[in-house]
Amino acid sequence: MRRLALPALALLLLVLAGCGQSTATPPATMPIIQPTPTHEAPVWRYDENLPARATRGALLFAGAGCTACHTYDGSGAINLGAPDLTAIGLRHLGIALEVRHLQCPSCVNPGSPMPSFASIGKKRLRELAIFLEASKGTR
Ligand code: HEC
Repeated sequence: MRRLALPALALLLLVLAGCGQSTATPPATMPIIQPTPTHEAPVWRYDENLPARATRGALLFAGAGCTACHTYDGSGAINLGAPDLTAIGLRHLGIALEVRHLQCPSCVNPGSPMPSFASIGKKRLRELAIFLEASKGTR
Protein backbone atom coordinates (compact mmCIF):
# COMPACT_ATOMS: atom_id res chain seq x y z
CA MET A 1 0.00 0.00 0.00
CA ARG A 2 2.72 2.46 1.03
CA ARG A 3 4.77 1.55 -2.02
CA LEU A 4 1.94 2.63 -4.29
CA ALA A 5 0.95 5.73 -2.34
CA LEU A 6 4.34 7.44 -2.49
CA PRO A 7 4.77 7.51 -6.29
CA ALA A 8 1.13 8.54 -6.56
CA LEU A 9 1.74 11.40 -4.14
CA ALA A 10 4.87 12.44 -6.05
CA LEU A 11 2.89 12.45 -9.28
CA LEU A 12 0.12 14.50 -7.68
CA LEU A 13 2.67 17.06 -6.46
CA LEU A 14 4.19 17.28 -9.95
CA VAL A 15 0.77 17.88 -11.48
CA LEU A 16 -0.06 20.50 -8.86
CA ALA A 17 3.28 22.24 -9.42
CA GLY A 18 2.54 22.26 -13.15
CA CYS A 19 -0.86 23.83 -12.56
CA GLY A 20 0.68 26.44 -10.31
CA GLN A 21 3.06 27.42 -13.08
CA SER A 22 0.39 27.81 -15.72
CA THR A 23 -1.66 30.19 -13.58
CA ALA A 24 1.33 32.25 -12.41
CA THR A 25 1.19 35.92 -13.37
CA PRO A 26 3.67 36.88 -16.11
CA PRO A 27 6.83 38.69 -14.96
CA ALA A 28 6.53 42.46 -14.96
CA THR A 29 9.17 42.70 -17.67
CA MET A 30 7.12 40.62 -20.13
CA PRO A 31 6.40 42.77 -23.19
CA ILE A 32 2.60 42.61 -23.14
CA ILE A 33 2.14 45.63 -25.36
CA GLN A 34 5.00 47.25 -27.24
CA PRO A 35 5.07 50.54 -29.11
CA THR A 36 4.12 49.49 -32.63
CA PRO A 37 5.53 51.27 -35.67
CA THR A 38 2.62 52.21 -37.90
CA HIS A 39 2.03 54.54 -40.81
CA GLU A 40 -0.42 56.42 -38.59
CA ALA A 41 1.86 57.70 -35.83
CA PRO A 42 4.01 59.91 -38.12
CA VAL A 43 0.83 61.37 -39.64
CA TRP A 44 -0.57 62.09 -36.16
CA ARG A 45 2.73 63.66 -35.13
CA TYR A 46 2.54 66.06 -38.06
CA ASP A 47 -1.20 66.78 -37.99
CA GLU A 48 -1.29 67.38 -34.23
CA ASN A 49 2.13 69.03 -34.04
CA LEU A 50 3.05 66.56 -31.30
CA PRO A 51 6.23 67.13 -29.28
CA ALA A 52 8.94 64.44 -29.33
CA ARG A 53 8.01 63.33 -25.81
CA ALA A 54 4.60 62.17 -27.13
CA THR A 55 6.09 59.78 -29.71
CA ARG A 56 6.21 56.62 -27.59
CA GLY A 57 2.65 57.23 -26.42
CA ALA A 58 1.50 57.65 -30.03
CA LEU A 59 3.07 54.31 -30.95
CA LEU A 60 1.49 52.67 -27.89
CA PHE A 61 -1.89 54.21 -28.75
CA ALA A 62 -1.63 52.67 -32.23
CA GLY A 63 -0.51 49.29 -30.86
CA ALA A 64 -2.58 48.88 -27.70
CA GLY A 65 -5.98 48.60 -29.38
CA CYS A 66 -7.23 52.07 -28.39
CA THR A 67 -8.38 52.71 -31.98
CA ALA A 68 -10.72 49.71 -31.78
CA CYS A 69 -13.09 52.01 -29.89
CA HIS A 70 -11.74 55.53 -30.37
CA THR A 71 -11.19 57.67 -33.45
CA TYR A 72 -8.12 59.91 -33.57
CA ASP A 73 -7.23 62.26 -36.42
CA GLY A 74 -9.34 60.20 -38.83
CA SER A 75 -7.90 56.82 -37.71
CA GLY A 76 -9.78 54.10 -35.88
CA ALA A 77 -13.45 53.42 -35.30
CA ILE A 78 -16.05 54.43 -32.74
CA ASN A 79 -17.28 51.55 -30.59
CA LEU A 80 -19.22 51.43 -27.31
CA GLY A 81 -19.85 55.16 -27.71
CA ALA A 82 -16.19 56.00 -27.01
CA PRO A 83 -15.34 59.67 -27.68
CA ASP A 84 -13.03 60.93 -30.44
CA LEU A 85 -9.66 61.71 -28.83
CA THR A 86 -8.20 64.02 -31.50
CA ALA A 87 -8.35 67.00 -29.13
CA ILE A 88 -8.56 65.27 -25.72
CA GLY A 89 -5.60 67.41 -24.53
CA LEU A 90 -7.76 70.56 -24.73
CA ARG A 91 -9.72 69.27 -21.75
CA HIS A 92 -6.57 69.45 -19.59
CA LEU A 93 -7.49 66.35 -17.60
CA GLY A 94 -3.88 66.05 -16.43
CA ILE A 95 -1.37 63.18 -16.51
CA ALA A 96 -2.42 61.76 -13.11
CA LEU A 97 -6.12 61.58 -13.99
CA GLU A 98 -5.39 60.15 -17.45
CA VAL A 99 -3.26 57.39 -15.86
CA ARG A 100 -5.91 56.65 -13.23
CA HIS A 101 -8.60 56.43 -15.92
CA LEU A 102 -6.48 54.03 -18.00
CA GLN A 103 -5.89 51.87 -14.90
CA CYS A 104 -9.57 51.79 -13.94
CA PRO A 105 -11.93 53.63 -16.32
CA SER A 106 -15.06 52.90 -14.26
CA CYS A 107 -13.39 54.29 -11.10
CA VAL A 108 -13.06 57.68 -12.83
CA ASN A 109 -16.18 57.57 -15.00
CA PRO A 110 -18.74 55.32 -13.24
CA GLY A 111 -20.34 52.80 -15.57
CA SER A 112 -17.54 53.11 -18.15
CA PRO A 113 -17.33 50.00 -20.37
CA MET A 114 -13.71 50.81 -21.32
CA PRO A 115 -11.39 47.95 -20.26
CA SER A 116 -8.58 48.50 -17.74
CA PHE A 117 -5.09 48.87 -19.21
CA ALA A 118 -3.35 48.56 -15.81
CA SER A 119 -1.52 45.42 -17.02
CA ILE A 120 0.69 47.36 -19.44
CA GLY A 121 2.44 49.01 -16.48
CA LYS A 122 2.79 52.51 -15.07
CA LYS A 123 5.60 53.57 -17.43
CA ARG A 124 3.56 52.86 -20.56
CA LEU A 125 0.41 54.36 -19.03
CA ARG A 126 2.35 57.56 -18.38
CA GLU A 127 3.61 57.58 -21.98
CA LEU A 128 0.02 57.19 -23.19
CA ALA A 129 -1.10 60.01 -20.88
CA ILE A 130 1.65 62.32 -22.18
CA PHE A 131 0.44 61.61 -25.73
CA LEU A 132 -3.21 62.24 -24.78
CA GLU A 133 -2.40 65.51 -23.00
CA ALA A 134 -0.34 66.69 -26.00
CA SER A 135 -3.23 65.98 -28.39
CA LYS A 136 -4.74 69.43 -28.91
CA GLY A 137 -6.40 68.86 -32.29
CA THR A 138 -5.23 68.92 -35.89
CA ARG A 139 -3.61 72.03 -37.36
C1 HEC B 1 -13.51 48.54 -25.78
C2 HEC B 1 -13.57 49.96 -26.12
C3 HEC B 1 -12.46 50.86 -25.64
C4 HEC B 1 -11.10 50.68 -25.78
C5 HEC B 1 -10.36 49.51 -26.39
C6 HEC B 1 -10.49 51.88 -25.25
N1 HEC B 1 -11.44 52.76 -24.82
FE1 HEC B 1 -11.12 54.62 -24.05
N2 HEC B 1 -13.13 54.84 -23.76
C7 HEC B 1 -14.09 53.94 -24.10
C8 HEC B 1 -15.38 54.44 -23.69
C9 HEC B 1 -16.73 53.73 -23.88
C10 HEC B 1 -15.16 55.71 -23.09
C11 HEC B 1 -16.23 56.65 -22.45
C12 HEC B 1 -16.37 56.28 -20.97
C13 HEC B 1 -15.18 56.72 -20.19
O1 HEC B 1 -14.85 57.93 -20.18
O2 HEC B 1 -14.51 55.87 -19.56
C14 HEC B 1 -13.72 55.93 -23.16
C15 HEC B 1 -13.10 57.10 -22.73
C16 HEC B 1 -11.76 57.38 -22.90
C17 HEC B 1 -11.14 58.65 -22.59
C18 HEC B 1 -11.86 59.90 -22.09
C19 HEC B 1 -11.93 59.91 -20.60
C20 HEC B 1 -12.72 61.08 -20.10
O3 HEC B 1 -12.64 61.36 -18.88
O4 HEC B 1 -13.45 61.71 -20.87
C21 HEC B 1 -9.81 58.52 -22.85
C22 HEC B 1 -8.73 59.58 -22.67
C23 HEC B 1 -9.59 57.17 -23.34
N3 HEC B 1 -10.81 56.50 -23.35
C24 HEC B 1 -8.38 56.67 -23.72
C25 HEC B 1 -8.18 55.37 -24.19
C26 HEC B 1 -6.88 54.82 -24.50
C27 HEC B 1 -5.56 55.58 -24.41
C28 HEC B 1 -7.08 53.53 -24.90
C29 HEC B 1 -6.04 52.51 -25.25
C30 HEC B 1 -5.01 52.24 -24.28
C31 HEC B 1 -8.52 53.29 -24.84
N4 HEC B 1 -9.14 54.41 -24.40
C32 HEC B 1 -9.12 52.09 -25.21
C33 HEC B 1 -13.90 52.73 -24.74
C34 HEC B 1 -12.67 52.17 -25.04
